[in-house]
Amino acid sequence: MTVMTETAHGPWSATTRFRHDGIATIGNVPLMEIVHRFGTPLYVIDETDVRLRARAYRAALPNAEIAYAAKAFLCRAMASWLSTEGLSLDVCSAGELAVARSVGFPAARIIFHGNAKTPLELHLAVEQRVGRIVVDSVDEIHRLAALVPAGQRQKVLIRVIPDIEAGESAAVRTGGENQKFGLSVATGGAGDAVSRVLRQPRLELVGLHCHLGSQITEVEPFERAARAMVEHLAGVWKTHGVALPQLDLGGGHGIAYRPGDSRLNIEAFADRVTHAVEERAAGLGLPVPRLIVEPGRAIAGTAGVTLYRVISVKKGLGHTYVAVDGGMSDNPRPALYGSRYQVRLIGRTSHEGDREVTVVGHHCEAGDVIAEDVPLPADIHPGDVVAVAATGAYHHSMASTYNLTCRPPVVAVGQGKARLVVRRESMEDLTRRDVGL
Ligand code: LLP
Repeated sequence: MTVMTETAHGPWSATTRFRHDGIATIGNVPLMEIVHRFGTPLYVIDETDVRLRARAYRAALPNAEIAYAAKAFLCRAMASWLSTEGLSLDVCSAGELAVARSVGFPAARIIFHGNAKTPLELHLAVEQRVGRIVVDSVDEIHRLAALVPAGQRQKVLIRVIPDIEAGESAAVRTGGENQKFGLSVATGGAGDAVSRVLRQPRLELVGLHCHLGSQITEVEPFERAARAMVEHLAGVWKTHGVALPQLDLGGGHGIAYRPGDSRLNIEAFADRVTHAVEERAAGLGLPVPRLIVEPGRAIAGTAGVTLYRVISVKKGLGHTYVAVDGGMSDNPRPALYGSRYQVRLIGRTSHEGDREVTVVGHHCEAGDVIAEDVPLPADIHPGDVVAVAATGAYHHSMASTYNLTCRPPVVAVGQGKARLVVRRESMEDLTRRDVGL
């Protein structure tokens, strides 16, 4: 018997399929099989999708450096997939550096950034010989220089505020003057940092960096930033006679969370931004810098899906609440940014029509909502399993143990098999950290 299959895409990973007999698969592995093996709640990550997106970036920007932003999602398996795909890695903490290095991610391809790197982080970054460190304050310049041993030079980028506002919500807009990241051109802070770094014999200034914000779906702000940053490179050239070879435009590439959502078109981004850099550099008589981009969400986001089991269905006056066995501890994004998701029933078919329900978590907070007013079959009941799309980026990495809940495992699907890559947190993990009385 042939079973009709619906190819998913949109917010779902490249190998996700919904069969008309109710079976949903990723990489040909039925999701219910994964649920039976590993329990719920659970994150599934599609290795094929990650690799396809990494390759799509390399194909669209063959001359640029693609540095995956580890903060979106990092585990050892992810680090090694990206390493074999030839990507670089943008890390922002000692922990991300440790995970990457534990699987031999080449240090030369690591970029370390952060607005307030601790002394330990700077020490580890230099000791591990990371390829570049992004200077984000004047304070850190002499601190960093003092850590570099004689005979060694640490390559650095300087993070500049491009003064361009873009991004989904105020919490993730980092390109304007009134936020904590980067050095201001307007106040002279950026220029001062450039002079100071150039005076440090153990530091080698290789370029400028900026990051506009997150979940940006239009190319235009990136084009504007590219032009503005080339102008800043030209300023360095004019003042110091140094043509810096690299231009890092950060990440922030938006994805679709629900069908019909717009996303950043990577090919259009590549064409227009490359053109903007070349054109502006030519206009200023400046050598064309090598572009670096730092996508996180656009590589990991749609590769991930969260699976929950329904615990209860409650009809309220205004809403029907479908409560599941996870919530804001594995997905704080609706509470933090008002993010919206697509939810699907998996594991069985339903002949009932859809009705609007609100999917909520099991935490002790009214704001613990996963998806408000989403369609699910009218006969949804306890024991059902639901899948939430596009949870590969900023879900596991932002998960907490709120209410002393154990963080879910991550199961990777690749080569037709599901395998555990991050185990579920146990009660023992929780009590072991609490050294007690
Ligand atoms: N580069 C830098 C310097 C960044 O600060 C970030 C994200 C990225 C790259 C990657 O951005 P992406 O391409 O993934 O948008 N927790 C928020 C997102 C915070 C992003 C912080 N920085 C969320 O869940 O939407």
